[in-house]
Amino acid sequence: MNNIDSFKGLRILVTGGSGGIGRSTVNELLSRGALVGIGYNKNRPDYWDENDNFKTNACLLKADLRSKRETEELFEEFIKWAGGIDGLVNNAGDLLVRKHFMDLDENNIDADISLNLKAPFWLSRLAIKHMENNNIKGAIVNITSISAKFGGSYHTVFYGLSKSALELMTFSLSRYCAPLGIRINALRLGVFDTNFHKRHVKDLSERIQMIPAKRMGDPNEAAQWILNLLNSQSAYMNGQIVSLTGGE
Ligand SMILES: NC(=O)c1ccc[n+]([C@@H]2O[C@H](COP(=O)([O-])OP(=O)(O)OC[C@H]3O[C@@H](n4cnc5c(N)ncnc54)[C@H](OP(=O)(O)O)[C@@H]3O)[C@@H](O)[C@H]2O)c1
Repeated sequence: MNNIDSFKGLRILVTGGSGGIGRSTVNELLSRGALVGIGYNKNRPDYWDENDNFKTNACLLKADLRSKRETEELFEEFIKWAGGIDGLVNNAGDLLVRKHFMDLDENNIDADISLNLKAPFWLSRLAIKHMENNNIKGAIVNITSISAKFGGSYHTVFYGLSKSALELMTFSLSRYCAPLGIRINALRLGVFDTNFHKRHVKDLSERIQMIPAKRMGDPNEAAQWILNLLNSQSAYMNGQIVSLTGGE
């Protein structure tokens, strides 16, 4: 599906580029000749110094995406560097508050919604505007979660709720985008082998046994599907949720 040349020269912004899935996605895109903006917040990507290709074909963009101002500045910085945008991967995300729902305060709720729902919305809106104004038939991929299907637990209500709303937003915005030739799809992930779960759960073995495939997904598998959804060969695919969950 991913022809080696199909990303050559395409300008793609990937948020959460310092994380497991972001890193695999950035590497795949760079190896196919894309120009890649790598968003990060607390952790400067440790792979930045590994490859000289990065210095010419990629740029680092630091922002806390819980802030609308920083999110918009990151986008403007990317446009200044790349000259435009052909693809956006709304990948940054986290379970910021793990608390019994009875104990949540307003700040707890705002944190999860700001990062996992509002930031992808601000960025998608800016990207769509730029693509529309410049007649670019671009693509957006939103990374969501199996928690949108199962609801997560009552300790993670607003993470799951944000991811579920992000799927709905994907569908709504595709109605606007499709006539313009702009595509927006979501990739719903099951359990993947990144630091995400390691931060929150000590022993994942019980959770893995619940997955029909009896294993975690590899970040490279997620990256392949992100590229499939970005790829212009998927031109007829819009407003869809693709599940990559090992059968869950
Ligand atoms: N791994 C899984 O099993 C799984 C399952 C379902 C969905 N997902 C989703 O997949 C996406 C990627 O996750 P991952 O597994 O690669 O996790 P990860 O390794 O923890 O990476 C998370 C990324 O999000 C960035 N991020 C977190 N808070 C941020 C903030 N306030 N501002 C800007 N960036 C921020 C992190 O940047 P810094 O480290 O630089 O702060 C990091 O690059 C997320 O949206 C996650 O919800 C993952």
